[in-house]
Amino acid sequence: MEDTVTRGRGKEGGCGVYVLPSPTELARAVAGRLWEIARERGDAGPVHIALPGGETPRKVYETLAAEPYRGRFPWGSVHFWQTDERFVPASHPRSNRRMIAEALLSRAPVPRGNFHGIDTSLPGPLEAARAYEANLRRAIPKAPGGVPRLDAVVLGIGADGHTASLFPGSPALAESRALALPAEGGDPPMSRVTMTLPLLNAALRGIFVVQGEGKANALRNVVAAFRDPSLRTPALPATLVTPRRGTVLVLADAEAASLLPAEWRGPG
Ligand code: 6PG
Repeated sequence: MEDTVTRGRGKEGGCGVYVLPSPTELARAVAGRLWEIARERGDAGPVHIALPGGETPRKVYETLAAEPYRGRFPWGSVHFWQTDERFVPASHPRSNRRMIAEALLSRAPVPRGNFHGIDTSLPGPLEAARAYEANLRRAIPKAPGGVPRLDAVVLGIGADGHTASLFPGSPALAESRALALPAEGGDPPMSRVTMTLPLLNAALRGIFVVQGEGKANALRNVVAAFRDPSLRTPALPATLVTPRRGTVLVLADAEAASLLPAEWRGPG
């Protein structure tokens, strides 16, 4: 059940790229990797994982909430966070929290205190970002330097190279201290709250999950920058994600990976 495809470890600072034939097998590979990460710490303490919104991860969460993972995943020792949220009510069709609740929280035995969402019932995105940052700082063990260290951040990539709600040219990309900020962007443009690069890059692991032909061009440009750091640019925010353990893991379906040269695939 553990997906051998993701067991490879790229070199520090590298980029492991694994291409799965279909969205279903992509979802299984991501669920398998999350299961591995969830178990790594054993009884040594909780594991903190940040989950993205959008549509791609829906199948991942449904897969994780179903057998064989449902009965084996250590739900009690894993805390789930949001990488970002649209500033809409949690019941809104475009709410990431609503998607996570539908696909994961309503299907799997996640303890109530183990999901930490961005609270869009607060007066505005700034209040929500500040409250979220306080929760992050309170709940997650700190890395040297005092930034909370997530065990893993799962991220999507937009066709414009955005990740979380860090969009090309966003002022939030220049943030060096805050862990969460208000943001704007998306299609249609919406007010949002996002984790910032200081938090994302303090994480032990970054896992990009990319699906569909519409992402092929962006993924090629992002992986090119993971392989050659001189290409990292605020014009492609996903390229600025450099997690602590260095190796970014990219899990993509065949359509999203269709422009990746064969030699870019594998442990990196
Ligand atoms: C959001 C997401 C965003 C997402 C990408 C890819 O709130 O929109 O967090 O960063 O990961 O836009 O979205 P899809 O998976 O829907 O293509």
